[in-house]
Amino acid sequence: MIYFELKKFLSSKLENFSIEEKNRFILFLENLFEKSLYNFTNKDFEKLKKYIKKYGSLIKKYPKNYPIEYILKKTYFFGYKFFINENVLIPRKDTEHLVEIALGLVLKRKKLYGTQKIHILDLACGSGCIGISLAKELKKKNISNFFICFSDISINALKVCKLNLKYHNLQFPLILQDSLKAVKEFKFDLILSNPPYVERNSPFLEKSCLYEPKIALFGSLELLKLWAKESYKVLKENGIYIFECAPYQVRSLKSFLKDLYTKVEIYVDYNQLPRGFICYKGL
Ligand SMILES: C[S@@+](CC[C@H](N)C(=O)[O-])C[C@H]1O[C@@H](n2cnc3c(N)ncnc32)[C@H](O)[C@@H]1O
Repeated sequence: MIYFELKKFLSSKLENFSIEEKNRFILFLENLFEKSLYNFTNKDFEKLKKYIKKYGSLIKKYPKNYPIEYILKKTYFFGYKFFINENVLIPRKDTEHLVEIALGLVLKRKKLYGTQKIHILDLACGSGCIGISLAKELKKKNISNFFICFSDISINALKVCKLNLKYHNLQFPLILQDSLKAVKEFKFDLILSNPPYVERNSPFLEKSCLYEPKIALFGSLELLKLWAKESYKVLKENGIYIFECAPYQVRSLKSFLKDLYTKVEIYVDYNQLPRGFICYKGL
């Protein structure tokens, strides 16, 4: 009953909203209340009545394609909440595969690592969604002998990452660096990265991406190759580099990576498209 009442109420209150604005507002409310409109209670309804003026005008203020996540300043990744702002990329669902693969590999190699610290680098961390999700998952599996460095070229992205680390009760170092320049003396077991890989003239760029940092989006095959080469140098003998790329870049990268690493595997995304590489330095 409340759902129909709510819809009627919203229709009357949002008369001057276009259909698109109404849908966006509903999506916004669902995110704000962290539940579907279907599950709103009378208490939520009362709260909403108070919010409508404030948030209704907010939705109208932003351009049509402005991401809801930036208005709410939060999003969800791998089931965890992350604070975000315009200084970081909005974490994508496809990147969750990278975490899943990393988690699987650490669990598989648990015996090999033994009680030694597992050194991990979240390269180009942005909000920190990859490393933080992995850390939370490892802790859930009672694995605590790991250490994750979070690095990015953007100081503002690192500030967001710091906020997320604090929110998730984690303490790890943040490194401000261009590519892998500051970690040349380190050795890692695992390097994870979702690099900026979109090419500037890409026809696949969604309109909402216009509001995301260009530095987080745009890259090149050269950058992906450079990071694969630099990662190789700072990996331990049996280290692994896992990174995401665009499906159309996979072919060009494959032979390059095969010449560099001992073993190279391609993983696929939710659409079964090739989405990244698992590169093994040793076996
Ligand atoms: C695609 S975003 C990934 C962010 C986050 N890991 C995620 O998956 O949501 C790429 C990140 O690379 C960083 N970046 C861009 N160029 C870089 C460079 N030359 N060296 C280090 N980081 C860089 C950007 O600041 C951005 O945070």
